[in-house]
Amino acid sequence: MSRQKVICGNWKMYKTLEEAASFVKSLAPLAAESQALVYLAVPFTVIAAAAREAANTSITIGAQNMNDASEGAFTGEIAGKMLKDAGASFVLLGHSERRRYFFETDEFINKKVHRALQDGLQPILCVGETLEEKEAGRTEEILEKQLQDGIGDLESSAASKLMIAYEPVWAIGTGQTATPEIAQNVHLHCRRWLAAKWGEETAESVAILYGGSVKPENISDLMAEPDIDGALVGAASLKLELFSKIVNYIAKDIET
Ligand code: PGA
Repeated sequence: MSRQKVICGNWKMYKTLEEAASFVKSLAPLAAESQALVYLAVPFTVIAAAAREAANTSITIGAQNMNDASEGAFTGEIAGKMLKDAGASFVLLGHSERRRYFFETDEFINKKVHRALQDGLQPILCVGETLEEKEAGRTEEILEKQLQDGIGDLESSAASKLMIAYEPVWAIGTGQTATPEIAQNVHLHCRRWLAAKWGEETAESVAILYGGSVKPENISDLMAEPDIDGALVGAASLKLELFSKIVNYIAKDIET
């Protein structure tokens, strides 16, 4: 079975209104022929402007985080329904930078997943092990815990609405990409976990993206792996020239 491919940019804390709008406008014609869905996770302040530019194009705009409450006295936080209202269709949850710098736990992330689904946003749950965990041979154990505590309590109908992004922490922003073989093995492990939890059909329908130093030079080899359904792209998504190349990767060995 051939799953939908997705290339998702993650702008992190970059780009002003004008930069965002002009990027989306220029990307639209370049992304039109992509074999993948093109997603952009942008800062809160530019969601509305980016979504306006993305209307009637193949680009989908989303956010990088949200709070788990529907609304309330949480100074500085943002609600899923506000993101939706501004034009976001999806939200990254549990990115390793949120886990590391803002101490987000699996339990908190799980609440956000539920809230995002209630608010009509597609969650992209980010998981990944640190270098120490990898070197200690704990990758699978760590991922299973992040998956179980992050999404393990969902019904299969809800699980089939989300995406997973495997981002080894040691590969994010370091220039060190997991080899396609390493990533494929981890993705397969995640897919088996999904199958054990919700059955083959759901497991086969969930897109699992790879993230961590994805660039034009490595995207085709990554996308050739059967369980790598797309990429979550940080630094290279900030530059139109690089991101448009990634979006238009040539798949070497697409499954039929
Ligand atoms: P990077 O970031 O592509 O710059 O490594 C990926 C991410 O953090 O999503």
